[in-house]
Amino acid sequence: MTGAYFYHNGHLYGEGVRLADIAEEVGTPTYVYSQAAITHSYREIDRAFAAVPHIVCFSLKSNSNLAISRLLAGLGAGADIVSGGELFKAIEAGFDPGKIVYASVGKTVPEIEYALQNRILMFNVESQAEMETIAAVAERLHCRAPIALRLNPDIEAKTHPYITTGMKQYKFGIPTEEALTLYQQAMTLPSLEPVGIQMHIGSQLLKVQPIVDAARKLLEVYDHLREMGLSLRYVDIGGGLGITYRDEAPEGPQVLAKTIVPMIKERDCTLIVEPGRFIVGNAGVLLTRVLYIKRNELKKFVIVDAAMNDLIRPALYDAYHAILPLVEKRETEVVDVVGPVCESGDFLAREREMVIVEQGELLAVQSAGAYGFSMSSNYNARPRAAEVLVSGDHWKLVRRRETYEDLVRGEDQA
Ligand code: LLP
Repeated sequence: MTGAYFYHNGHLYGEGVRLADIAEEVGTPTYVYSQAAITHSYREIDRAFAAVPHIVCFSLKSNSNLAISRLLAGLGAGADIVSGGELFKAIEAGFDPGKIVYASVGKTVPEIEYALQNRILMFNVESQAEMETIAAVAERLHCRAPIALRLNPDIEAKTHPYITTGMKQYKFGIPTEEALTLYQQAMTLPSLEPVGIQMHIGSQLLKVQPIVDAARKLLEVYDHLREMGLSLRYVDIGGGLGITYRDEAPEGPQVLAKTIVPMIKERDCTLIVEPGRFIVGNAGVLLTRVLYIKRNELKKFVIVDAAMNDLIRPALYDAYHAILPLVEKRETEVVDVVGPVCESGDFLAREREMVIVEQGELLAVQSAGAYGFSMSSNYNARPRAAEVLVSGDHWKLVRRRETYEDLVRGEDQA
């Protein structure tokens, strides 16, 4: 349990609000986020890099709820986006387009046009073919596209393979050896303006060393380019800072800043970081209700009303999310916590020692603020969960629960 969520008189609270009150009023499953926790972690990372010019670009893919984006935009954050849809949401939320960076290995022509029209800070380019497409679109629109090349530094991030990105076997970025040639090509194209260099090597990194090693490789290229007469303004080291789900002890932004800040200071440039999970991960919980308890010879199953369509991380990465009762208890047993979806992979916890719970009881799945709702789906025609933002003693619904009508919207034109 972290900061904003704690037991008080036997009840689990999010800031000053009893979580059971939210569940009773809004129903379950419901995501709850703490404004104080989001603000706190944003400020922590912002402060860590205060000694150098920098922009904290919140990675929208981790959580693109408008209320959260608005909060972060108001705190001065920029945005890291990966699609036209995220650009739309970022603009809706009020992020300054001049602080939006756009990565994706497959930007389409309409997406490129949309981003150019909105004058984003830069495209993080992931291949030569994409660079040439951006150049052609910019030429047609009579503008110059600000670009950074996303390098693949071929460094092992030491995390789950599905969330490792900076190695040659993965689709992301451009091999370091090819970067100079591509920058040279970019310099010959009048519709491109190379302004930066970028990387992102993976997510949920507990040690900062791989990021530092990769940043060194990035800066070698940066220095080379400067010798060639190209002074890039932005050095973007991506996101990836890990959080505590169970008992991990991530090194965090201060440790990263200790080595990165001097590297940036030596050069006259602006640092960009793209945290997602670090800002929202521990700020969110998923409220769910126990529907049934079921036993067989081998196991006891706690069947809850949240499922893999609401939170896919356990099924997809075998990720651990602590599960706490909303009314404090002590006695434990080993159970599987599963949802109603028709897949054996539909579990929130397996062989988990946790408190003994009863039918009808409310639970909170912890550390669900990042890649929770944003990865949720309508699988099994399940309406997506409601989202609530808590601040002090107040809470508000920031996304209503989907209805059955929402499930057929767009399909019912026949
Ligand atoms: N920048 C880029 C270019 C990214 O691809 C990502 C995440 C980030 C920044 C933010 O990374 P973060 O600070 O959140 O680690 N669904 C997975 C995580 C996928 C991460 C994808 N890229 C999960 O639930 O663990």
